[in-house]
Amino acid sequence: SAEQSAPSQSLGPDYRSAGDKPTATVSKDVQHDNVHVLAQTPQLIALLTMIRDRNTNRADFIFYSNRIIRLLVEEGLNHLPVVQHEITTPVGRTYAGVKFEGKICGVSIMRAGESMEQGLRDCCRSVRIGKILIQRDEDTAKPKLFYDKLPSDIADRWVLLLDPMLATGGSALMAVDVLLSKGVPEDHILFLNLIASPEGAANFAKRFPKLRVVTAFVDEGLDEKNYIVPGLGDFGDRFFTL
Ligand code: URA
Repeated sequence: SAEQSAPSQSLGPDYRSAGDKPTATVSKDVQHDNVHVLAQTPQLIALLTMIRDRNTNRADFIFYSNRIIRLLVEEGLNHLPVVQHEITTPVGRTYAGVKFEGKICGVSIMRAGESMEQGLRDCCRSVRIGKILIQRDEDTAKPKLFYDKLPSDIADRWVLLLDPMLATGGSALMAVDVLLSKGVPEDHILFLNLIASPEGAANFAKRFPKLRVVTAFVDEGLDEKNYIVPGLGDFGDRFFTL
């Protein structure tokens, strides 16, 4: 829960003794079967430290975010099934491998999720990418669907849903409702996310137990304005404008 203090871990290669390694705050443990947190490696923690820093400029914010996004996409793809695939190498030997056979697409939750599109394209050549725009309704203060543009055959695809920050989960949960309404099976959706709040992760786990969330870090909690803390501020502003 949010009252627990953040876990600390010593970070560095195994050949260094624990007393010889720096310590850092790492992701909270979450107990939900469908929420997968990236391994808290020295590189991941260093990348997150860069993008959390208020003094990191926009060019560096983009560069280091992209490295984390790449890790998220690669890990997300590991959750998709593969089939056995034997090939012959140039020296005439066979190699017993695997290949991925399904069709995938990305769906970004605008605007911040669009920051993750390039990372997906870098891993999956000519991947189709759809978009969903959800914003707070001025009158009701509830999230409202303003726009969606999705591949017409999305029901036959694995969907990588993209949004860097999972705060309360209001818009991401609504985005999942949109995908389900188009016929995408719940267990064919992977939600890729950089930083989640414990509340947001719990909301997802409860509402969509068959959907998988892949996140780089589960943070302490939310502040009174529903910003993630310690967080990194407004991701969209820092990636696209500041
Ligand atoms: N969206 C952001 O960009 N930052 C937060 O802390 C929460 C939601």
